[in-house]
Amino acid sequence: MTRPIPTDVLPRVRLAHLPTPIEHLPNLSRYLGGPEIYVKRDDLTGLATGGNKTRKLEFLMAQALEAGADAVITAGAIQSNHARQTAAAARKLGLEPHLVLGRPAGGPPAVAQGNLLINQLVGAIIHWTDEPAPYAETIEAVGEALQAEGRKPYVIPYGGSNAYGAMGYVTAMYEIAEQTAGMEPFSTHVFATSSGGMHAGMVLGAALAYEQPPRLIGISIADPAETIRAHIAGVIDEAARVLGVEPGLSEAGIVVNDDYLGGGYAVIGDLEREAIRLAARYEGLLVDPVYTGRALGGLIDLIRRGAFQPGERVLFWHTGGTAALSAFAEVLATG
Ligand SMILES: Cc1ncc(COP(=O)(O)O)c(C=O)c1O
Repeated sequence: MTRPIPTDVLPRVRLAHLPTPIEHLPNLSRYLGGPEIYVKRDDLTGLATGGNKTRKLEFLMAQALEAGADAVITAGAIQSNHARQTAAAARKLGLEPHLVLGRPAGGPPAVAQGNLLINQLVGAIIHWTDEPAPYAETIEAVGEALQAEGRKPYVIPYGGSNAYGAMGYVTAMYEIAEQTAGMEPFSTHVFATSSGGMHAGMVLGAALAYEQPPRLIGISIADPAETIRAHIAGVIDEAARVLGVEPGLSEAGIVVNDDYLGGGYAVIGDLEREAIRLAARYEGLLVDPVYTGRALGGLIDLIRRGAFQPGERVLFWHTGGTAALSAFAEVLATG
C-alpha cells in the first residue's frame, strides 16, 4: 500500500510514467568487478523522450496553471534537456512555450539536431541570447514583451531547480523506498548533478522517507562542488519550508564530487566516451554525452579506485538526455 507523502498536499499535474523501472546491470557489474550496479530508469519518464525534468515539471507546471499562466518561459543551453521537456509539457497542457537558449559560437545550426530538433517539432518559440548563463536579463525581457501583448507568462527557473522542482525528487525518494521495500537496500545512489534541484529533492526526500538514508553522491557536471552544495542547501531549506518539515540537514552532509569536470560543460572526453560505449556494449543501454555519460564515467572511475565493497549494491540514476546523442555524432561516432 502506498503511504501518504508530504508532497501529496501540493498541486501536481501528471506528466511522467511512474514508477520508473529499476534494472540490474549484470554484465557491466561483472566487467568492472566491483559492486552490483542497478539503474533507475528516469530516462523513461515518457515526455518527448523523457528524463529527470519531467518529475520536476509535474510540480512546476501545476504552479504555472494555478497562477493562470498562458505561456511559460525557461532557459538553457542549445541541447538543454530541461528546455525540451518544458516545451513538451507546456504544449501538452495548452501553454505557449518560450525558450531562451544560449546562441552557440557561429550561430544556431542550419539543421537542428537532438533536443533542438524536438523543440522545433513541438513548436517552441526560441529566443537566442548572447548573455552569459543563466540569461536572467533575456528572460525578463521576453516576459515583459509577452506581458505587453496581454499575455500571462510564468517563468520556470534554469534547470527547474527551485523548491517546487525539487518536489519531483522528494516524491521519487518515496517511490524508490516503496519499490525496494523488503529488498536489501542500495548502499549508495550515484547521479549527475548540475543545477542542483534534483539533488536537493533527493537529499530532502531521503531524510524524510528513510530511517537510514542511503549515501547520495552527485557527480558534478559543470560547477565546483562548493557552488553546487550551497545552492542545493538553499533549495532544500526553501522546499522544507514549503512542506512545513524540519529535516535537520546540514550543507556538509551534501556530497558533490567535482573530480570529473574534464574540459567543461558539454565537452566530451575519454571518460564520457568510454562510459557511453561500455553501457551500450555490455547492456544495450544508452546514456547521454553531457550528463549521464559523465556521471556513469565518474561511477566507473570510483569503482576502479575501490570506493565500493564487492557485493555492495549501487544505484545509478539514469536521468535522461539521450535525445542529444545525435547532436554529438562527430565526437562519438566510432565508425
Ligand atoms: C539528463 C540530465 N541529467 C541530470 C541533470 C541534472 O539535474 P539538475 O539540473 O536538477 O541538477 C540534468 C539537468 O539538466 C539533465 O538534463
